[in-house]
Amino acid sequence: SALMSPLVWDLGHIAAFEDLWLVHRLGGEAMLRGDLAEVYDAFETPRAQRGDLPHLGCSDARDYLAQVRHRVLELIDERGPGDGLLAEMVLRHEYQHQETMMQTIGLARLPDYLPPGRRELPAAPSEHHTGLELVDVAAGPCEIGAPAGGFAYDNERPRQHVEVGGFRMGRTPITNGTFLHFVEGGGYERRELWREEAWSWKEQYDITRPMNWTEDGREWRITGYEPLDHHKPVVHVSWFEADAFARAHDARLPTELEWEKAATWDQERGAVRQFPWGEEAPDPDRATLDPTALGPAPAGAYPAGAAPSGCMGMLGDAWEWTSSHFEGYPDFRPYPYREYSEVFFGTDYRVLRGGSWATSGRVATPTVRNWDYPARRQIFAGFRIAADPS
Ligand code: AVJ
Ligand code: FE
Repeated sequence: SALMSPLVWDLGHIAAFEDLWLVHRLGGEAMLRGDLAEVYDAFETPRAQRGDLPHLGCSDARDYLAQVRHRVLELIDERGPGDGLLAEMVLRHEYQHQETMMQTIGLARLPDYLPPGRRELPAAPSEHHTGLELVDVAAGPCEIGAPAGGFAYDNERPRQHVEVGGFRMGRTPITNGTFLHFVEGGGYERRELWREEAWSWKEQYDITRPMNWTEDGREWRITGYEPLDHHKPVVHVSWFEADAFARAHDARLPTELEWEKAATWDQERGAVRQFPWGEEAPDPDRATLDPTALGPAPAGAYPAGAAPSGCMGMLGDAWEWTSSHFEGYPDFRPYPYREYSEVFFGTDYRVLRGGSWATSGRVATPTVRNWDYPARRQIFAGFRIAADPS
């Protein structure tokens, strides 16, 4: 696939990134494999070309990973971890690539892939959610972005005080059942719902339903086809499809500021929460995170994970497309990894929020910003709708 790297490239890249940042930049030593730096430089080589590079084979990549980790642990023993922030960045980088690799596995539809862990997802709540029910969020100030201190990506800082106008937000993401109505109601044929670019994309690739749905009502879910579960969030839809769906419902996608306010702002206390439910780290009663389940839980399955706004499922389960382009916040300053964010700012990408069932709980925070092209569907992403106040 031109969308993804070969899995084995990701493995070598994880090792090379750790070699560069922790052996070389933190530890002050030469990289163990400086000769591979170019092959594994993500910025230099687009994903489509990575298969043609002289990258390591699987067992050599695993050896390289083990050698780098061994050296890093020695260096940390000898010299200490510094402030720990570079190590945290490297750790999260590895977790992010694990999700990327899961996307590749999902696209490849490998019939015999065995995931490392299995956790039973909670059942759908007795009162089903469609994604069309909206909560009201009052106009007013809030705080957006990661606080100073501790680890955060450069694109989450600095934290800003923002006045957000009143809006309505989907209590849950749009479910498969709700999206099926859109498909069966001719949503993909109604020209007026689709932006110019979206319509050409849809026509060119003959898109008539979400990427992993089959014509006979089943869905590919990492290890096999299963009957479409109407209560689960729709996933593997592009931004174009999410945007058209919202228009069909006289709604729109939320901006990322609206999304973050609905996820973390506690109106009563006039303060921001670290997580939608409070200050405690994520747990299996609040969100599906880490690739231990093979997809999202039913919409509204985690009432204990609700935000003060009443929105549920904001963290984990499925990334959510927002209407926002990926740009730096006011007073953005690139650090420490200049090519992480800044080179992607502009109108090519749309921002996704919240993380998915395949995101590490260490990576998914309400301030984390992900981005992808509006046509992309391999990510574990769905969406919720928003609207102006009634
Ligand atoms: C934040 C997921 C868009 O995969 O391109 C990994 C994360 N950056 N290595 C990506 C990333 C460098 C990035 N995304
Ligand atoms: Fe990377």
